[in-house]
Amino acid sequence: MIKACVIGWPIEHSRSPMIHGYWLRKHRINGSYEKVAVAPEDIESFLSSLGAQGFAGCNVTLPHKEAALRAADNVHAAARSIGAANTLWLSEDGRLEADNTDAYGFMTHLKESAPSLRLQGATAMLLGAGGAARAILYGLQKAGVERIVIANRTEARAAALAEAFDHGLETIAWDKAEGALKDCDLLVNTTSLGMDGQPPLEMSLKTLPKESVVADIVYTPLETPLLAEARARGNACVDGLGMLLHQAVPGFERWFGVRPEVTKELRDLVVADLKVEDG
Ligand SMILES: NC(=O)c1ccc[n+]([C@@H]2O[C@H](COP(=O)([O-])OP(=O)(O)OC[C@H]3O[C@@H](n4cnc5c(N)ncnc54)[C@H](OP(=O)(O)O)[C@@H]3O)[C@@H](O)[C@H]2O)c1
Repeated sequence: MIKACVIGWPIEHSRSPMIHGYWLRKHRINGSYEKVAVAPEDIESFLSSLGAQGFAGCNVTLPHKEAALRAADNVHAAARSIGAANTLWLSEDGRLEADNTDAYGFMTHLKESAPSLRLQGATAMLLGAGGAARAILYGLQKAGVERIVIANRTEARAAALAEAFDHGLETIAWDKAEGALKDCDLLVNTTSLGMDGQPPLEMSLKTLPKESVVADIVYTPLETPLLAEARARGNACVDGLGMLLHQAVPGFERWFGVRPEVTKELRDLVVADLKVEDG
């Protein structure tokens, strides 16, 4: 039996077991995927004994994504550029391999949901400069987006991000972002604003071109106020759930040897679970 898990602190609310459990059943694989709560002081010892505990690998969530990168014997390109790892696996000779699949997840869902968006040469505005923003920046740059404008409440954090990713990045003051929407082909919210329990994102889309695409990586609620406004104006919308589902694909393939698909059935399963929590 092949074993994998997701580690974090806390970990109770992770949807990863539901996603991987669906694929394990669908492909009739003799495997398991569990949640493991790992306290920050235990992360090194947990990862150094991953194989001894019988795991083929794991997903890593907050607050362990940077620690996972440090613990790895081999860091793959996306994880190195993003500065964090979310997917770990043991190679045949027992080395701990680390990658980051968040950019892959976001970009795959973006291309599926907004197929007419031409990324090559596009201008994008990114709201936020946290961990998720780093992953999305990496994905957008790799896809050939020419100009990326970062707006973050804490300007120094946006400036640090722009420096780390060098070419084609600009920053703009948080309160000036709305005024710069008229040039954007793509707007991405990577802040936690609009999430259940968080303040809304106060930004009017009045000047955003109708052909522009609006993506929000918040997925609770699935239709954030930002996406609701964009949809009402006729902009193409990309929700945050697709990123979560697609980022899980490469890890499953590494551990269980089958490349799984993000099906409507899987999405419906997770949406139903999100609704239960909402209610
Ligand atoms: N769909 C997915 O698969 C997926 C994956 C990863 C994350 N997410 C979601 O993305 C969001 C960000 O995650 P993260 O890991 O990047 O978090 P993070 O590193 O803590 O960054 C949070 C970001 O939100 C901004 N922010 C928070 N409160 C704000 C406020 N009141 N006003 C303005 N800006 C505010 C922060 O700005 P400052 O720098 O000024 O604090 C920062 O840019 C979360 O909601 C998370 O659930 C979704």
